[in-house]
Amino acid sequence: MKLIQITDLHVASEGEFTHGVDVRQNFLDILQAAKSFSPDYLILSGDLAYDTANEQVYRWMKSQLDDLGIPYAPIGGNHDNSALLARVFGLEHLLTDGDLYYKLPLPNHTLLLLETSNGTISEAQLAWLANELTQLDAPAVIFMHHPPVEGGVPYMDVNYPLRNMVEVQEVLYQHPFPVYIFCGHYHVEKMLCVKNLVVHITPTTYFQMKWQQPEFLLDHLRIGLREINLRSDGVVESAVVYYDGNKT
Ligand SMILES: [Fe+2]
Repeated sequence: MKLIQITDLHVASEGEFTHGVDVRQNFLDILQAAKSFSPDYLILSGDLAYDTANEQVYRWMKSQLDDLGIPYAPIGGNHDNSALLARVFGLEHLLTDGDLYYKLPLPNHTLLLLETSNGTISEAQLAWLANELTQLDAPAVIFMHHPPVEGGVPYMDVNYPLRNMVEVQEVLYQHPFPVYIFCGHYHVEKMLCVKNLVVHITPTTYFQMKWQQPEFLLDHLRIGLREINLRSDGVVESAVVYYDGNKT
């Protein structure tokens, strides 16, 4: 089972100022790059919207995704409106109290897709997650916008972390198997191993940040995706691939 993760698309309205980055062309390019891997599924792990959620932008993105012919699943990021996202993408039946979190059953694997768009995971969602994990007699594969651990990226860890990560970690640490977590949000590429958690932070299709400094510093404008192979023996492999980005 091969997945492609793309994240932090930050697609703007046509003509909107995006600091010199052609985010719309980047989105179109990353879709074609994703298609070249012939994946079984494409996961969009949040921040589809440039800054503020916009129905027209979501509709344009959906039409491009539908044309691609690859099954796909979105979740919201802190720049998204999950209820609007669910409505435009026909996922309203998956909303719980306005939150878009759900499980995605695939052959031999079940993915858990979480909602962190307001920077936290609700108590109800945490209870749902704990219950799903107890039913899973195998490694877990989770997609969520915010990393559930500190990323060693001072600017993001201090200013924009998942605020209740300690409570979330307590639930994840209970799982007696590895938990593979694929996120975005940080605009860096990183892999962190904490106890049973293997956390992959995937680069964006907007810009990448320098991760070392406490202040915001641009690193580069190449765009990335992550190829993920869920092997039948339970091993999860992944690799990031970069492409040139587009300027306006
Ligand atoms: Fe984000």
